[in-house]
Amino acid sequence: MKILVLGTGGREHALTIALARDPGVTALHAAPGNPGIGELATLHDVDPLDAEGVAALAAGLGVDLVVVGPEAPLVAGIADAVRARGVAVFGPSREAARLEGSKAFAKEVMAAAGVPTAGARVCTTPDEVAAALDAFGAPHVVKDDGLAAGKGVVVTNDRAEALAHAAGCERVVVEEFLDGPECSLFAVCDGTTARALQPAQDFKRIFDGGRGPNTGGMGSYTPLTWADPDLADLVLARVVQPTLDEMARRGTPFVGCLYVGLALTAAGPRVIEFNVRFGDPDVQPVLALLESPLGELLHAAATGRLDDVDPPRFTAGAAVSVVLASAGYPESSSRGDVISGVEAARETADVIHAGTALVDGALVTAGGRVLAVRAVGGDVTEARARAYAAADHISFAGQQRRSDIAAEPLGVVEGASLR
Ligand code: AMP
Ligand code: GLY
Repeated sequence: MKILVLGTGGREHALTIALARDPGVTALHAAPGNPGIGELATLHDVDPLDAEGVAALAAGLGVDLVVVGPEAPLVAGIADAVRARGVAVFGPSREAARLEGSKAFAKEVMAAAGVPTAGARVCTTPDEVAAALDAFGAPHVVKDDGLAAGKGVVVTNDRAEALAHAAGCERVVVEEFLDGPECSLFAVCDGTTARALQPAQDFKRIFDGGRGPNTGGMGSYTPLTWADPDLADLVLARVVQPTLDEMARRGTPFVGCLYVGLALTAAGPRVIEFNVRFGDPDVQPVLALLESPLGELLHAAATGRLDDVDPPRFTAGAAVSVVLASAGYPESSSRGDVISGVEAARETADVIHAGTALVDGALVTAGGRVLAVRAVGGDVTEARARAYAAADHISFAGQQRRSDIAAEPLGVVEGASLR
């Protein structure tokens, strides 16, 4: 099977590593990829947002499957353009991608499907916002309705700050505050059937202890030893399957990864958000433990045949990813700082590329999250120690990393609580 992976980040590198391990995968291509992906796949200088360019590339290469990594091309309809050429795509149609593209739409689908989530009101005027803030009380949660790369959400006790954030957005969703540890559940979906991957936890704030601004994610681990062992089954039954049924009923079946961001509250799991792609870095440790073939799974999902393949299987043990970010992240990022120590780190861990570039043969920073160092071990403590030991080899000017990724007590540090 020949596969084309679209995207340029750590998620796409981790997917490519897992696909390269699948004996059924004979050739890997990526557009545009990054220097890490380039070690495993042939890179093509095509922008994933260029629907016609991607469709022509997929058809020209004769690939059996296109795997779309990021949300922006999905929301823009890349899957529709590729499917129109008769090529299988792992990723939802433009209509189905609205589950991530519009928080108001996601809320509407969750309400129709009876999915447990925070109470919410969609607001377009300052008066509506003020009324909703008062109705739900503090802490206040205000979300920009559109795609905002993880930066559109403000959680605060300060009513004025909540109002100010709303004033800067065209349409916002004001929500009830959910209290409890967060986790990520990835469901591989074929339109009617879903298979869950092992749940993971993502560390979203820039600083230790869950302080500072939200980022795309500073580290992650799996398994969640502190969570209910039936969590994945529970979320499949209460969240994923009802959502798939509702999307199919609307004539817009969901094919791809439904990423369920959850708060595990005292009243049970509640959906914080849906995304329509794998999470990064949360999927990295999950893929490290995936034993069954990823290419086969994604191809089966893309062609409506999940019932025909074995469900995903995971090895025992644990995996941890620690992100190394560049100076200024998340407000800005720094480019062109020379990165050293990657080869030494790779002796004991995977070095997953995100914002890197090769300039005259030298590896340099080229984005906010630069690399992630991922290690496996018998348990989270061992995997964590290996990931940090390997990460210690890597240096570049202005490097930022958290020191408490997957630290004890697990499940407590990274909650949806207000700091
Ligand atoms: P989102 O972009 O919807 O994932 O929100 C980003 C982060 O804001 C989440 O990971 C949570 O930490 C926090 N958050 C979002 N919605 C809520 C909520 N209803 N209650 C508490 N925290 C929330
Ligand atoms: N790690 C959070 C995300 O991928 O959205």
